[in-house]
Amino acid sequence: MSLASTEAATEIIAAKRSDSYSSTTRVERLLARFHQIRNFTNVLCLGLEPEDYVVQSMPDVSPTKWHLAHTTWFFETFILKKFLPGYRAEVPEYAYLFNSYYNAAGDMHRRDLRGLISRPTVKEAQRYRASIDSHIDALLSDIDEKLLDQVEPILVLGIHHEQQHQELLTTDIKHVFAQNPLYPVFRKPKISAESSAIPPQRFIEFEQATVAIGHDGRGFAYDNEGPRHQALVPAFSIASRPVTNGEYIAFIEDNGYTRSEFWLSLGWMTVNEQRWQAPLYWTKRDGAWWNFTLSGFRPVNKSEPVTHVSYFEADAYANWARVRLPIEFEWERAASECPIEGNFVEGEIFHPRPVAVASSVSADRPAQNQHLHQIFGDVWEWTRSAYSPYPGYRVAPGALGEYNGKFMCNQYVLRGGSCATSRSHIRRTYRNFFQPEKRWQFTGIRLARDP
Ligand SMILES: [Fe+2]
Repeated sequence: MSLASTEAATEIIAAKRSDSYSSTTRVERLLARFHQIRNFTNVLCLGLEPEDYVVQSMPDVSPTKWHLAHTTWFFETFILKKFLPGYRAEVPEYAYLFNSYYNAAGDMHRRDLRGLISRPTVKEAQRYRASIDSHIDALLSDIDEKLLDQVEPILVLGIHHEQQHQELLTTDIKHVFAQNPLYPVFRKPKISAESSAIPPQRFIEFEQATVAIGHDGRGFAYDNEGPRHQALVPAFSIASRPVTNGEYIAFIEDNGYTRSEFWLSLGWMTVNEQRWQAPLYWTKRDGAWWNFTLSGFRPVNKSEPVTHVSYFEADAYANWARVRLPIEFEWERAASECPIEGNFVEGEIFHPRPVAVASSVSADRPAQNQHLHQIFGDVWEWTRSAYSPYPGYRVAPGALGEYNGKFMCNQYVLRGGSCATSRSHIRRTYRNFFQPEKRWQFTGIRLARDP
């Protein structure tokens, strides 16, 4: 072997070593993340009894057991069945039972009947989770770079999908427990129900500007956050913090729920049909408002951000206050310099906190953003923007293209995440969406106004 070829061979070996080194650490990082997120789902279930796992209290709510199995089905369907040679499902019927809405992945069980499924049992669903997790371990333990390039984006999507279902699991079990006159406690309270002094709501002004909207491609994002594009955002002001329970009570006491002038036509129909008189989970006892929380039944704390309001209620409140809800581009612009910190699910408070506790002001931030509190965490903020595609958006081919695009009709965008969202799941460009009458998520109100 000549010197040149020896050198070449050494280079090849070194390149291979660094290749295998980088793929090992990449696999290790990916698996560590996978297990961390999968495990947090189990942590959320600590304290639940088997009877709690199976109840479906309304069509929007899925039983905890279904969440455990459906998130598992996602990894089995889109990764193991596709990439693990010789993989055979232990229970082929799970493909039907735990498919949510992916038509391209086959037929599915009816969403509103998920609470009727007593089998598999909770234990069997947990075994299903463990089995799929170990198959993912097996697939990744012996994977080459090329296959990893294909598997990684889907695994990462599955991890974010699991985090979305952690939030749903939390809000769903809240709705389940709220139906029970015993008012079960999901987690012991970490914060006081006492009202505290909070700063007054102020409006922060922004000049007209052309701004870049949407995800810049660094790190993970859902397809609905792109393509990134320029948008002209006329001058606006946005509130320094979300609307509180105390402020919302003033709207209720001013007969906000019975004065049609504040309501959209569809909202007025809904409020009358549903006989809404207050946010979801609120009850009046001896002249005082109480609400059901994941820490039990408690007096309404006037300092906390109001939550469990529909788009209709948020819009009616804004009209009553003679302002409006923000446009999603205004929100994204206001949030662009704000640090992503706040009251997220990792804190395991499971309830919005008053602003004085939740926000911190530091000297190294632009002055404008020191005045914007609770942009992230606590409550999702309804925007007045319809959930629609950004210019140039195309639905990806195949079943995973059904993830977001097909829901771009009759829904509104919410921004910022809530006390049930993971800190590592939210982004400044994140677009959540719900129909305007939905109230069981931690949804709240931040106001905006024109100059
Ligand atoms: Fe899902």
